[in-house]
Amino acid sequence: MYPTRPERPQDRRKEAHQGKVLDEFFDHPTLLAISRLINQGYFDAIDHPISTGKEGGVFRGTKGVRWVAIKVYRVGNATFRRFPPYALEELRREVSVRNLRTLIPAWTRREHTILGRLRAAGVRVPEPLGHFRNVLVMEYIGGPEGAAPRLKDALVDDLPGLYDDLVEQIRKMWEIARLVHGDLSPYNLLYHEGKVVTIDVAQAVSAEHPEAKRLLERDVGHLAEFLTREGLKVKTEEFLERIHPPPKSTEE
Ligand SMILES: Nc1ncnc2c1ncn2[C@@H]1O[C@H](COP(=O)(O)OP(=O)(O)OP(=O)(O)O)[C@@H](O)[C@H]1O
Ligand SMILES: [Mg+2]
Repeated sequence: MYPTRPERPQDRRKEAHQGKVLDEFFDHPTLLAISRLINQGYFDAIDHPISTGKEGGVFRGTKGVRWVAIKVYRVGNATFRRFPPYALEELRREVSVRNLRTLIPAWTRREHTILGRLRAAGVRVPEPLGHFRNVLVMEYIGGPEGAAPRLKDALVDDLPGLYDDLVEQIRKMWEIARLVHGDLSPYNLLYHEGKVVTIDVAQAVSAEHPEAKRLLERDVGHLAEFLTREGLKVKTEEFLERIHPPPKSTEE
């Protein structure tokens, strides 16, 4: 078992809610997308949900003797509202997005592409394995005992080691992939085998984007806050300096 924090009452309520969510979840087009991915050999079966929410869910699937993670975006307004405007603008520049039926598949493809770019830069992310419509297949992060916990729920004993790892991951995102995650927090980092794995990357933007510097500072700020709360005092400025070279702003 992974060492995790004690279960809270709200976790139980979330579980009780899951049955209902699953019924509403797999609408006809989504079932067709899943069966197409199965027919094309991306995976053999969906095992169980790892996490479900209003905008979608992540499931464990089986492929031969291995597992995969299957992220399904719900085609609805709740999903759309979660996409930050700056990322939607970027998406609109890349593809013509007329409505939810085209926007959500484009968003899913975007997550697949960005995972690939980050991985090529040596950032620890799940390997993207395929996508179709609103369904993304990627490497499963975890083991037989379950999916890896989010950093928020993990018990970390080596905080300085975690800090170094975070610096290294964000530095590679910025310097090599030239991307800013934009929603980096202990919710979108998994803790696996003593290292962080970055997930939920669809809203990442180019380092050249006018909002990039602000988003990088916000991401780093969230993580500095987390480290400080856990007992390792870290200032945002000092964290940013470690992601050297300092973000170039147009005024410089
Ligand atoms: N590749 C993976 N392997 C194992 N677990 C995963 C993987 N990807 C996502 N998860 C689990 O699914 C959860 C939700 O994934 P993600 O953050 O990508 O989706 P989301 O749409 O932001 O959902 P939420 O709003 O619940 O965070 C994660 O917190 C994690 O527990
Ligand atoms: Mg998330």
